[in-house]
Amino acid sequence: VSEPDLAGRHVVISAGGTREPLDPVRYLGNRSSGKQGYALARTAAARGARVTLIEANTGIPDPAGVDVVHVSTAVQLREAVLKAAADADAVVMAAAVADFRPAEYATGKIKKKDDGGAPTVELVRNPDILAEISAGRARPGQVIVGFAAETDDVLANGRDKLRRKGCDLLVVNEVGERKTFGAEASEAVVLAADGAETPVPYGPKEDLADTVWDLVAPRMTTGNG
Ligand code: C5P
Repeated sequence: VSEPDLAGRHVVISAGGTREPLDPVRYLGNRSSGKQGYALARTAAARGARVTLIEANTGIPDPAGVDVVHVSTAVQLREAVLKAAADADAVVMAAAVADFRPAEYATGKIKKKDDGGAPTVELVRNPDILAEISAGRARPGQVIVGFAAETDDVLANGRDKLRRKGCDLLVVNEVGERKTFGAEASEAVVLAADGAETPVPYGPKEDLADTVWDLVAPRMTTGNG
């Protein structure tokens, strides 16, 4: 894309997967690589946007020309997203956020029990950041985008999730071995709250990222600059 159609815009992107610590050496995590979020950050910067990338546990070097905030847990991610979203024209939640975290953090490594039994880990709910920022938009006309990885009834579940979360766009991926997690390519459908459904054929994550910005750009209704 040669047109700097996001010039004067501030976009916030979350990438990677949160880690919820159990003790000093263990965590609950997920398989998100962060590649889709980084593709979104690179393409937004190439289209002229000011980009804040909030990354969780990706290990990917900071892209040039992008403000990067490093976090690890869902609670830290929420704080960073809320702060950056305050003056954002668009927020794209590409990160895989843990739905639950251990209720307690053990300050010492959890030991094996002498009786041969296993410990029970109690979990509590994490905040749903996407639902929260969609419900209380930091500014009118702010465009909010979520991602959903589904294994079955992909479109029906996606439409339902779009409504429940209250975001403007939801990128629905079918989760498979070859697709999505850690892969260089993906296939998706972008669902819009206004009813538009945009299929994105199997291809590089940059292509999906550019389609997301193509759909975000005309929906940003706040003044440019
Ligand atoms: O409900 P589910 O986890 O499938 O929703 C995925 C979308 O919601 C992603 O955009 C993810 O970043 C966001 N999410 C969130 N906070 C959570 C869980 C998911 O913002 N606690």
